[in-house]
Amino acid sequence: MNDRFLAPALAFDRVCHRYGEHAALDDVSFSCAPGEFIALLGASGSGKTTLLRGAAGLLAFDQGAVRSPGSGDRRTIAMVFQSHVLIDRLSALENVLAGRLGYNPRWRGWLRRFNREDRLLAIDCLDRVGLLSHAARRVDTMSGGERQRIALARALAQQPAVLLADEPVASLDPEAGATVLRLLRDCCRERQAAVVCSLHQPSLALEHADRVVALRSGCVVLDAPSSALDAAALAAVYR
Ligand SMILES: Nc1ncnc2c1ncn2[C@@H]1O[C@H](COP(=O)(O)OP(=O)(O)OP(=O)(O)O)[C@@H](O)[C@H]1O
Ligand SMILES: [Mg+2]
Repeated sequence: MNDRFLAPALAFDRVCHRYGEHAALDDVSFSCAPGEFIALLGASGSGKTTLLRGAAGLLAFDQGAVRSPGSGDRRTIAMVFQSHVLIDRLSALENVLAGRLGYNPRWRGWLRRFNREDRLLAIDCLDRVGLLSHAARRVDTMSGGERQRIALARALAQQPAVLLADEPVASLDPEAGATVLRLLRDCCRERQAAVVCSLHQPSLALEHADRVVALRSGCVVLDAPSSALDAAALAAVYR
């Protein structure tokens, strides 16, 4: 389902952000419906990470607003970072379980005391990213691409209403990258999550996303369904 008339799961309303004199975001407005997968494109420095960090509440925009019906509840928005942020000394499974922290009462917050459902969910998420056989391995012994997939498994375990991913396929080989994008798409379909995912490969956006939003110098220069776009239309974004 991809009903644009549903109340948005995430909406940017005239967002502006500056770093000193530099305008990183300049009057950005668009929204993402439940079950919709938006690919965020744009050249390096166009503002993608700034926008996603603001949506995740990690940065306060100078002007404008970002709205999400469940905002305030840290479980509802999950983010997979450009630099995968994991807890090095913990195993893959423990890192994924960290995605469940928001659902556990405080007394159960210690990683080793998760309930059975949380453990099964974490195992399922690790399996989905193809790393179940590495469940017990410390993540600081893993490759960049493996860590990236663990970070995605952790976000999936959070069962968020909004999933933000900043270049989640940048450090992956083409096959693993396609798997990750299919997982994000499944997350949209199965859980009606809204997904906003920045990408550097326009072809992947066309293949996997419902809609493409492109930034240039902090402004939205394209907002259209993928079905209405082709490679030439996307190449224009980078000129
Ligand atoms: N902490 C910061 N201080 C100053 N300028 C910053 C900071 N973070 C980002 N910028 C600048 O803001 C602009 C947007 O940066 P941002 O990281 O959002 O771009 P991006 O589209 O994610 O780029 P990339 O594709 O390289 O990841 C860039 O010009 C960048 O140099
Ligand atoms: Mg970035």
